[in-house]
Amino acid sequence: MQQTKAVITGVGSFLPEYRLTNDELSRLVETSDEWIMTRIGIKERRIMKDKDKASAYMGAKAIEELLIKTDTHPGDVDLLICATVTPDMVFPATANVISDMLGIKHAFSFDINAGCSGFLFALTTAAKYIETGSVKKAIVVGAEKMSTIVDYTDRTVCPIFGDGAATVMLEPTTEEGIGIIDSKLQVDGIGRKWLHQKAGGSLNPPTHDTIDARWHYIYQEGQPVFKYAVSNMADVSAEMMKKHNIYPEELAWLVPHQANLRIIDATARRIGIGMDKVMVNIHKYGNTTAATIPLLLSEWEPKLKKGDKLIFVAFGAGFTWGAMYVVWGYDSK
Ligand code: UT7
Repeated sequence: MQQTKAVITGVGSFLPEYRLTNDELSRLVETSDEWIMTRIGIKERRIMKDKDKASAYMGAKAIEELLIKTDTHPGDVDLLICATVTPDMVFPATANVISDMLGIKHAFSFDINAGCSGFLFALTTAAKYIETGSVKKAIVVGAEKMSTIVDYTDRTVCPIFGDGAATVMLEPTTEEGIGIIDSKLQVDGIGRKWLHQKAGGSLNPPTHDTIDARWHYIYQEGQPVFKYAVSNMADVSAEMMKKHNIYPEELAWLVPHQANLRIIDATARRIGIGMDKVMVNIHKYGNTTAATIPLLLSEWEPKLKKGDKLIFVAFGAGFTWGAMYVVWGYDSK
C-alpha cells in the first residue's frame, strides 16, 4: 500500500502597511541603523497600527488569500492550527476566532504556542492528522502582533520584532518523494529564564503592580538566547541533512526562522551552503515569531519548483527548536 504523506499545496500572507524604520526607532531609544544592521540585520519591520485589529485579523487575511489561490471553499477545511504567542485573547483560541471570521464551519481548530518554533510544531501536528487519513485539508497559520508585547523603551528588544501573518494549506498525497518527509522537534525548559513574558498568565495575573513593573512585555537576555539558537539551529539542520543523505549541492533552499542574520549565517555555514541558497527577508520584516517561515515560503513561492528539497529550521522561546525536511509539491502558476 502506498504511504500517505502531507504536502503543501498553497501559501498566503498578510503584512500590515506601516513600516517602523531604524531611523524612527533611534528617535525612541538610544540606538542606530548601523548597530541594528550589524548586530541583527533588520532595516524595518511592519506594525499593525489599528487598535482593533490583532493576530486573528492578520491570520484571517493571510488565509483569505490562501483560500482564493487554492480555490478552496471555507466549508471544505477540516483543520486549522494557529501558531502564535500573541493570541487575541487568553481564550478562546485565536484559531477559533479566525475560523469564525472566515466561515470555516466544519473544521476543528486550536492554537499552538511554541515561541518562534510554533510554525514547525503546528505544521508537524497538522501533517500527522493528514497522514492518518482523518483530515483532508488542513490550514496552518502563523499570526503575530508582536508590537503589543514589545517594550519600545527597551533598546535590547524593540529593534527585533515585527507584526505579520502567513499560512500554508496541507493536503494528502501518495506521490513518491514529495511532501513533508521528516520532522524533528525539541524543547528544553532551561531556556525559559532567558526569554519569557512574566505577566498576563495564571502565575502573575494582571495587576497595577505587574503593569508598573512592565511585566507584560518580552523579557529577553539576548546573549544566552543567541548562543543556544546558533548551536541548536545548526545542529538540528545538519542532523536532518545527514539523516536523509542530502548533500549541500542538492539542497534547493534553507528556510530558517528570521531572528538574527548572524544566526542564519552560522546555520548556513554549518551545513555547507552559501547564502544564495538561504531564504532571507529579515531586513524587511524583522522577527515575526511564528510567521517568519510561512512568510518566506509566500515570498519565494514563484521561484519554488516541484521536487525542490527544503530544510525548515527554527529556534525560540521555551526553548523550542526543530527542523523539517520538505520536498516542494508544485510549480508556481
Ligand atoms: O527568535 C528567538 C528569539 N530571539 C533571538 O534569537 C535573539 C538572540 N539574541 C540576539 O539576537 C542578540 O543577542 C541581540 C541582537 C539581542 C543583541 O546583540 P548582542 O551582539 O548579543 O549584543 P549584547 O547584548 O552583547 O550587547 C552589546 C552592547 C551592550 O552595550 P555594552 O554593555 O557593551 O556597553 C548593549 O547595551 O550593545 C548594547 N546594545 C545596543 N546598542 C545600540 C543593546 N541593544 C542595543 C541597541 N542599540 N539596540
